[in-house]
Order: sequence, then structure tokens, then C-alpha cells
Amino acid sequence: MALLLLVMVGVVVGVVVASSLLLRWNEVRYGNGRRKEGGCLPPGTMGWPLFGETTEFLKQGPSFMKQRRLRYGRLFRTHILGCPTVVCMDPELNRRMLLQGEAGGLVPGYPQSMLDILGRNNIAAVHGPLHRLMRGAMLGLVRPAMLRQSLLPKIDAFMRDHLQGWAGAVVDVQAKTKEMALLSALRQIAGITAGPLSDALKTELCTLVLGTISLPINLPGTSYYQGFQARTKLVSMLEQMIAERRSSDDVHDDMLDALLRSGGDGAREKLSDEQIIDLLIALIYSGYETMSTTSMMAVKYLSDHPRALDELRREHLDIRKGKSPEEAISYEEFKSMAFTRAVIFETLRLATVVNGLLRKTTRDVEMNGYVIPKGWRIYVYTREINYDPSMYPDPMTFNPWRWLEKNMESHPHFMLFGGGGRMCPGKEVGTAEIATFLHYFVTRYRWEEEGKNTILKFPRVEAPNGLHIRVQDY
Ligand code: HEM
Repeated sequence: MALLLLVMVGVVVGVVVASSLLLRWNEVRYGNGRRKEGGCLPPGTMGWPLFGETTEFLKQGPSFMKQRRLRYGRLFRTHILGCPTVVCMDPELNRRMLLQGEAGGLVPGYPQSMLDILGRNNIAAVHGPLHRLMRGAMLGLVRPAMLRQSLLPKIDAFMRDHLQGWAGAVVDVQAKTKEMALLSALRQIAGITAGPLSDALKTELCTLVLGTISLPINLPGTSYYQGFQARTKLVSMLEQMIAERRSSDDVHDDMLDALLRSGGDGAREKLSDEQIIDLLIALIYSGYETMSTTSMMAVKYLSDHPRALDELRREHLDIRKGKSPEEAISYEEFKSMAFTRAVIFETLRLATVVNGLLRKTTRDVEMNGYVIPKGWRIYVYTREINYDPSMYPDPMTFNPWRWLEKNMESHPHFMLFGGGGRMCPGKEVGTAEIATFLHYFVTRYRWEEEGKNTILKFPRVEAPNGLHIRVQDY
């Protein structure tokens, strides 16, 4: 018995000593924060060799960040998601990092699975001349004139159909808004309406999305492997659509036609078929989760805040006055929806749909006197800015009115859609889509939550069992 106890104590002591040696070794490996080439790293810890502090980060989420901020300040080093990383919560420095971009040694630093599955021309990953080419093409598709003439009428027609027949039913808003984000994008891209083709694309796109947020292990059965398979199928479906367009003289008013016809005129280089396909996949991917989550959370916050719902509904009923039931929302009416815009931004802020942005250093980069080595990641962590009381008094309260008081949208620390040369090109289209969804939702229906719906806020905003509401005609 005594021997067993001795062995157990020995094992425990051994594990403790080995663990502290490993942790120590990992700190020494990163120079204890001091680098031979000169310059210091920000304070922080690097955790275990290889795994770093990933487990703690994923388990504790936002409180991992808060604890480290209390200990080390708003700029600290860690090792998460397979890479030595500097986390920055300083609004001014974050803004500088986003503006600094490629010229300042910062390129996108998104995880490997995302880069692999979204393709080598993925706009959110490429840099240099290829980024300029892809971004130019993307901006051409979503510019204000396109939104006014082509996209808004399509979004309007889609929302009318999508929000048909909800009265008298219990609806899962999460499922409906996910479907909405996907189907609306497919209609804008290639005029695809609900049916067998959209069902097939939907299945592959959902598998692709899961693959991009998985570990890059390419073995049958893993999400990464399935994501890749889904990408292959999607690419072949899109190739077929391109071939059909080329073999016919029909003109289509959609993004695919615009891409096939644009460029090569001296003003802009023509995109290859592979680039067109990667651009379309990136476009659907970028809007899918952001749009659906924001729409779902707007419904949730409006359910909980009847005064905000009343004001929003008043704005939309005023727009409907003097319009026939079949008349679509005009661009001017969309632009006049000041309170709706405020509700959307307040939802994005309070729910923190985007936690932060990832960059990778292409050379040593200076940050507030520290030197971040080449190859490290910088996590421009914007979540904390969303809850900064100096910018948003009483930050945990849903208060859309705050966006009307000052021109918050042009505040230098407004980063809900990123900033600098990679600022979201889909900002206006995305806002128009959510605004149109809210327009038909609040003018047609009233609703109440059904049962207890759980909403998780980290690492992604989601309702694991759905967000169920009982809907009635308004
Ligand atoms: C509420 C909706 C949306 C939010 C909150 C949002 C947010 C963001 C953010 C924060 C970024 C910056 C990423 C970075 O700097 O690394 C971004 C980039 C991007 N977004 Fe959005 N987005 C939304 C909707 C959309 C929509 C509807 C589209 C497509 C029409 C879109 C397309 C893109 C693309 C292509 C990029 C990459 C741009 C580049 O790297 O040059 N987004 N978005």
C-alpha cells in the first residue's frame, strides 16, 4: 500500500516536473519575449509545445482574452490555432494594423483549411496584384448602381417569396435565415430559384462551410476531407453553368453573366474560369454566416425589446403607406431606413458576429514598440471594442438609438465590417438584404418566442437547437 502511494506520488511529481519543463522550454524557444535580432515581443505565454494555448482559448473563449488583457494589457502574445499569435485589443492600434495592410507587412492569416477549401484565388486570402484583380471584379458586382438596378429588385422578390406563409406556424428562424442567405445569393449569382439545383448546391455549400472551420486532416470521414469533396462537386456544377452560358446567346441579368462579359477591355484584366468560380464561392461563403446570424439575432433582440420593434415597424409601415402590396422597396427607401440600419449595426455589435480579423506578418512588424517576427499571426480582436464603454456607453444593452445620436458609422473605430484595403465589399448589399428581410417580416407578422432557445456566442454565434418562434399575421 505504502509502495503504491509512493509510486503515485512519484508519477504526480514526474508529471508536474515534466509539464513545467515543457512549458519553460516553449517559453525559451520563443526567447522569453526577447529576440536575438533585437526588439521585444509583447508580454504573454506560449503554452505547450505544438498546441500552445489553443485548448484554453477554445474552452474559455472571450474570458481567455479578458483574463490575459487584465494580466498583460491590450497587446499580448500567445500560441493559438497552430501559430504563434499576437492578440491586439487596442482600437487605435487595430485600426492602424488594418490600414497598414500588405504594404506594412500584413497579409490575411486565415486557417489552412479555409485557404485550401475556398481555392487558391479566394479573395479573402490572396494578396498583391491578384487581390487587386479579384477585389476589382467583386466591387464591380456590388457597386451602388448594381444594387439599385439589379440586386435590390432581386432581393425584394426573393424575400417576398421566402417570407410567404409563415403565419400560424412555429418557425426556426436560424434555419430560415441560413436558407435565406444561401438562396438569395444563388439568385443574385445565377438566377437560381428554389428547386433541385439549389437543393444540390445547398447541400454541397453547407459541407464546404463545415470543412473550412475544421482541422486540415485529409482522411476520409473528416470534415476537411468532406469539405474538399464538396468543393470539387461545386466547382464542376459551376463549370457546367459556365459552359451552358457560353453555348447560348441568351443574356442574363446576374453576376455570372457580368463576370463572363467583363474585363479584357484594356480597363481590367479578364478573369479565368477558375478565378470566376473561386470568386463566386468566396462571395457566397463570406455572406452566408454573417448575414444569417445577424438576421437571426436581430429577430431575437427585437423580440426582447418591444420599444425597438415598435419603432422599426413604424419605419417600415411608413414606407409601405402609399405603395401597392406588390411594389418593391426602392433604393431611396432602403437608404432612408435610418432606424433599421441602426438595428442591424447594434445587432452586429452586441452579438459580435465577427470576433476579429486574422493577419500574418510577411516581415518583422513593429507594434507599439514591440517587434512581431515574420510568420506570426496578428489577431485584430475587435470583440472588446464592441463592448468598450467609452465608445458604447452601457455596452451590454441593446440600444439601436445610440447609432442615431452621433455618426457612429464613420467613427474611426467602427470595424464591424473590417477596415482598410480589405473592408467588406458586401457591406451595403448585406445591409440591404437584412433590411429587406426585416421589412417583410415586421410588416407581415408578429411573433413570440416558442419555448426556451439557447444561443451560444463563442466561437460562433449559433442556436444549437434552433431559434423557434410562433408566428401570426400582423
Ligand atoms: C452582415 C453582413 C456582413 C458582415 C458583418 C461582414 C463582415 C466582413 C468583415 C469584417 C470583413 C473583413 C475581413 C478581413 O479583413 O479579413 C469582410 C470581408 C469580406 N466580405 Fe463581408 N460581411 C458581411 C456580408 C458580406 C456579403 C453579403 C458579402 C458578399 C456580397 C461579403 C463579402 C466579403 C468579401 C468578399 C470579403 C473579403 C474582402 C477582401 O479581402 O478584399 N460580405 N466581411
